[in-house]
Amino acid sequence: MKKILVINGPNLNLLGLREPALYGAQNFETLQASIREWAVALGLEVELFQSNHEGVIVDKIQAAYGVFDGILINPAAYTHTSVAILDALKAVALPTVEVHLTDIATREKFRQFSFVSLYAQKTICGKGFDGYREGLEYLAAL
Ligand code: DQA
Repeated sequence: MKKILVINGPNLNLLGLREPALYGAQNFETLQASIREWAVALGLEVELFQSNHEGVIVDKIQAAYGVFDGILINPAAYTHTSVAILDALKAVALPTVEVHLTDIATREKFRQFSFVSLYAQKTICGKGFDGYREGLEYLAAL
């Protein structure tokens, strides 16, 4: 069974509370439960990980080497700032899908560039929670 590491970055633990007009009214626990259900349906084993700390996310990506078959990541604000997360993804070289709840291409200028996109094999934006399902489907089909 393929093992997928799902990483959510800073402030995504506050889904539901956080700017619901942008990110929706459903909370983070609901997202996690949906991801678990989709994984079961796709025959994937998933580990769900969330951190608000860049270095902790780098450590988690490094530890994925030799353990996981793919990574699904919403790096949140670190998308636009983190060379360290990009370098960690390149180092472990696992198939990686980047997901964003919102369409970062149509938001503020500072959100329009993604370091992670320079490595990710696929980027899914603006589909809300469904983007995670699409990302899992892509990784399952590889
Ligand atoms: C986000 C978009 C980022 O710009 C933002 O910092 C987030 C969430 C999204 O899922 O749309 O925290 O990654």
